[in-house]
Amino acid sequence: MKKRFHHDSYLLGIETSCDETAVAILHGDTIVANVISSQLIHSKFGGVVPELASRAHLQNITYLVQQALKQAEISITDIDGIAVTSGPGLIGALVVGTNFAKGIAVRFQIPIVDINHIEGHLYSPFLEHQDLDFPYIALIVSGGHTLLAIVQSFDEYTILGCTRDDAAGEAFDKIANLLGLGYPGGPMIDKYAQNGNPDAFDFPRSMLKSSNFDFSFSGLKTAVRTFLHNTFPQGVPEVVLPDLCASIQEAIVEVLVAKTLKAARTYRISRIVVAGGVSANSRLRERFHAAAQKHRLQIFIPSIQYCTDNAAMIAFLGRYKLLNGISSALTFNATPTFKASAA
Ligand code: KG4
Ligand code: ZN
Repeated sequence: MKKRFHHDSYLLGIETSCDETAVAILHGDTIVANVISSQLIHSKFGGVVPELASRAHLQNITYLVQQALKQAEISITDIDGIAVTSGPGLIGALVVGTNFAKGIAVRFQIPIVDINHIEGHLYSPFLEHQDLDFPYIALIVSGGHTLLAIVQSFDEYTILGCTRDDAAGEAFDKIANLLGLGYPGGPMIDKYAQNGNPDAFDFPRSMLKSSNFDFSFSGLKTAVRTFLHNTFPQGVPEVVLPDLCASIQEAIVEVLVAKTLKAARTYRISRIVVAGGVSANSRLRERFHAAAQKHRLQIFIPSIQYCTDNAAMIAFLGRYKLLNGISSALTFNATPTFKASAA
C-alpha cells in the first residue's frame, strides 16, 4: 500500500540538473540532512562537460543518499515522499536524478513529485525566512538563467523579463575564462574584486536604461575580450586583476540591482528575493542590502549554501506540493528547457 505524506513526514530531495549532485532530507519542515558533491572534473575544461556530469552523478548519487540518511539518522524505509528536479538543466544529468528517484518511489511505494529547478530557487528563501510573505519581486541569477518575476503565491508567479543571451553567471564564468581564472569563474572574480576599484575601468551596462525588464550580458563579454586584446596583448598582468574583476563585477551587479529596484517601484512591491548561484556574490549582496536601507525595502537572500544549487530547496517545494495533494505520475520526463509551470 502507498504511504501517505503528512506534516511530520520525512522527504528526500534530489537535485542533479547541472554539475552538483545534491541530496537533502526534511523532517516536517526541518532540514535534517543536506549533502552535496560539486564535480571538480569540469574545471580543467573551463565549463561543464555534459557527458562527464552525467557519469559523475551516476557515481555519486547512491553514496550521497546514504550520507544523507546517515546525517538524518534514519533508514531509507523511513522516507515518506520524494522530490526531484526534472528541469531545466542538462538532459543527461537530469535523467540520472529522475530515474534514481523513480526507482526509490517504486521500490518503497512512496509518492514522488517533480520540481522545476528555477522554482526551487524562486522559493528557496523560505528555507531560512519563515517570515517571508507574498507578493515579492524575485531576481533569479544562476549559471543558466537570469530572470525577474513577481511571485504571488506558491502556485502563481509572473515572469517580468529574462536574459536575451548569456545568463549573469554565464557572463561571470565566460569572462573569468578570458582572464584565465578557471571554472566556475564567479567566485574567483568575486574574490579578486574584494581588493579592486570598481571604477577603475568602464565597461558597458547593457539594457540598464531599457523600458523592459530584460537583460543582456553577451555585449559585456565581447567588450572585455576586445579590451583585453587591445590593452594586454601579452596576457593580463596579475597586478591588474583586482581592478579588472571589480570593474567587470560592478557592470553586472549594477544592472541586476537597478532593474530589480525598478520592478519593485513599478509594481509597488516592497519585498525582494534574490536567489540562484550569483546571489552568492558579495558585491551583489552588499548593494542589495544598501538599497534596502535606502528605499525601505525588505531583502531576502539565502545564505551561501542555499544560493548555489542544493537539494534542500527542491525538498522544500516538494513538501509544499505533496502536502497539497500534488504529486507526479511515474511517466514524467526530464525536460532541459524552462517552462513556467506555476504561472
Ligand atoms: O544556481 P547555480 O549554482 O547553478 C545553476 O543553476 O546554474 O549557479 C551557478 C553560477 C555559476 O555561473 C557561478 O559562477 C555563479 O553561480 N556564482 C557566482 C558566485 N558564486 C557562484 N557568481 C558571482 N559571484 C559569486 N560569488
Ligand atoms: Zn541553479
